[in-house]
Amino acid sequence: MINSSIANLPNEDRWTRLNITLHWLIVVLLAFQFFIGEWMVAFFDGGIEGKTMDALTVTFGYLHVVIGLSIFVAIALRLWDRLAHGRPPHWEGEPNWASVLARITHFGLYALLLIMPLAGLVSWWFSNEWIGDQHVLASNVLMAFVALHIAGALANHFWFKTDVLRRILPGQGRKT
Ligand code: HEM
Ligand code: HEM
Repeated sequence: MINSSIANLPNEDRWTRLNITLHWLIVVLLAFQFFIGEWMVAFFDGGIEGKTMDALTVTFGYLHVVIGLSIFVAIALRLWDRLAHGRPPHWEGEPNWASVLARITHFGLYALLLIMPLAGLVSWWFSNEWIGDQHVLASNVLMAFVALHIAGALANHFWFKTDVLRRILPGQGRKT
């Protein structure tokens, strides 16, 4: 794993092509989801207060729902794929603190991406502001996990000098 040539990695040390595609699709969808989040807040509040809203607020509001549910489907598919086909092993010699941190971060990312869309849906459906507030709070926790995750990926690449970052890149999936 350390400094090996990525071309020679055996299949079991690689992610599936489906998993890699969904990883980067989720990154793009999440970026957009955060970008339109403010309009969703206005759409949600406007709906509760019975206000007339401009077209952009309504469009981005509905888009937030559709994209959020797409993220739910994508992360559920990734989890299924991981259970069915396994994930590449953590590299040999990885310090214990780093693998514990990685596992906690990955668990947090999966859990939040599964729970957040459901909480969002329930708050929107039932106009429940308390659940809406927890959804917004969770979006901040998600950002913290994403930051930790990116720091971990960069540390692997530049500090530990492993193939961990290279093997999640498009085109590096399993051959069969
Ligand atoms: C993983 C998927 C999702 C993420 C990352 C996400 C993220 C966010 C963010 C960043 C905000 C705005 C926070 C702010 O600007 O203060 C927000 C607001 C909101 N989102 Fe989501 N969202 C997701 C899925 C959903 C879904 C599927 C629904 C509904 C079906 C939804 C309903 C809402 C509602 C109702 C608000 C406004 C809450 C309030 O103002 O109290 N979200 N979301
Ligand atoms: C922005 C939102 C992101 C989310 C929600 C996310 C989520 C995930 C998840 C759930 C995994 C699978 C871990 C596992 O099943 O054990 C993963 C793997 C990975 N991600 Fe991300 N990721 C994001 C962004 C990024 C970015 C920007 C990078 C690169 C700088 C990156 C690099 C990696 C790497 C290298 C792996 C493989 C880890 C390993 O092989 O142990 N991710 N990501």
